[in-house]
Amino acid sequence: MITLDDKYIKNFVSGEEYDAALERVVAARDKVLNGGGEGSEFLGWRDLPENYDRDEYVRIKAAAEKIRDDSDILVVIGIGGSYLGARAVIELLGHSGLDPESRKTTEIIFAGNNLSSIELDKVLKRLDGKDWSINVISKSGTTLEPALAFRVLRAELAKRYGASANQRIYATTDAKKGTLHDLATENGWEKFVVPDNIGGRYSVLTAVGLLPIAAAGIDVDELMAGAGSFPRTDLGKVIVEALDYALYRNVLYEKGYGVEVLSCFEPSFAVMNEWWKQLFGESEGKDSKGILPDSMIFTTDLHSLGQYLQDGKRQVFETFVQFGKSPVEVVVPAAEDDGDGLNYLAGKNLSLVNQKAYEATAKAHHDGGVPVMTLNLSDISPKSIGEFIYFMEMACAISAYTLGVNPFNQPGVEEYKKNMFGLLGK
Ligand code: PA5
Repeated sequence: MITLDDKYIKNFVSGEEYDAALERVVAARDKVLNGGGEGSEFLGWRDLPENYDRDEYVRIKAAAEKIRDDSDILVVIGIGGSYLGARAVIELLGHSGLDPESRKTTEIIFAGNNLSSIELDKVLKRLDGKDWSINVISKSGTTLEPALAFRVLRAELAKRYGASANQRIYATTDAKKGTLHDLATENGWEKFVVPDNIGGRYSVLTAVGLLPIAAAGIDVDELMAGAGSFPRTDLGKVIVEALDYALYRNVLYEKGYGVEVLSCFEPSFAVMNEWWKQLFGESEGKDSKGILPDSMIFTTDLHSLGQYLQDGKRQVFETFVQFGKSPVEVVVPAAEDDGDGLNYLAGKNLSLVNQKAYEATAKAHHDGGVPVMTLNLSDISPKSIGEFIYFMEMACAISAYTLGVNPFNQPGVEEYKKNMFGLLGK
């Protein structure tokens, strides 16, 4: 169960400030729970842990099995909300979430999330001599980055497999319309749906995320069960931690803290940081408002940006993500000569040293003037991560409504596209 430790926030948000903000945040929460706010037609993610297409879910698992059976590599083509969630879960659970048998099988690689020739060339080289399939994901079906990568990779797949290439393409897109939908229908590719009422960055628990995650060998039943275990139907107690998190963020923002850093002591959390940044950045950064979401991986970044956090401009607050226990342990060995002076750690688990580093950092940052919160997760498992994903989606929607913006649109992302298509002569 996720808990929010707010002991290091109390010096920065007083009881009076908390109480003054509560009504506004509860009103925002009620917009998420009951609808009625801007963009409420995109609340489909809210009930997803119970309310999803069971038949499609069975097809997702069957397709994942087929891919694991006939492919060394699955290339997942998508950008933004159409790949970050899957990549985040796979990077985080790819080590601990798989049984030893699963670790041998299909590798998931990602393409179509940039326009770099170097990156696409790397993907093509990795496919050489391998058996592979494609999962192309685009809700609109027209996004340039994935569409271009798909054109290139589809041609390669046809060269490799001829007409049977069509049995190796899985398209995740709109249920009824769009270029990708039409191509999939014409060519007989297996189709999965991005529901109309779920936007890209809230879509990881749909086929968008579930097919690549299942193809990686991660238990999607557990992931969904974790999301479903987050309490949200008892309106009195609902989402108390998510509500508090949203409340503290908004009070801090009003007090001039314009940047939030999500910090984690597990390097395999790095892409989850990216998923979180997209979720909050696209949901809140509009109408000239919004906290800038940033992230750090510790202790790595304590040797670079840690300096800024500790001593730089006091505009940053920090949210740590901590796990109760490590899925694996490495024990520090004793050394006879103790030449490196580390025998005081002999016999201890590295994860204990990591935990102490967290405790020391949270206190140091707090004492240095950084408001600090910690989200505690019990472990690094599909269930805990499902719960974390759901927690963040809920907190983000509440926080954005509290800020007074529509959590579900992203008008700003169109601007560069207009210029780019002009320059390319579309
Ligand atoms: O969250 C979002 O809506 C965006 O990040 C989209 O997911 C991203 O732009 C990709 O769009 P599409 O799935 O239509 O290709």
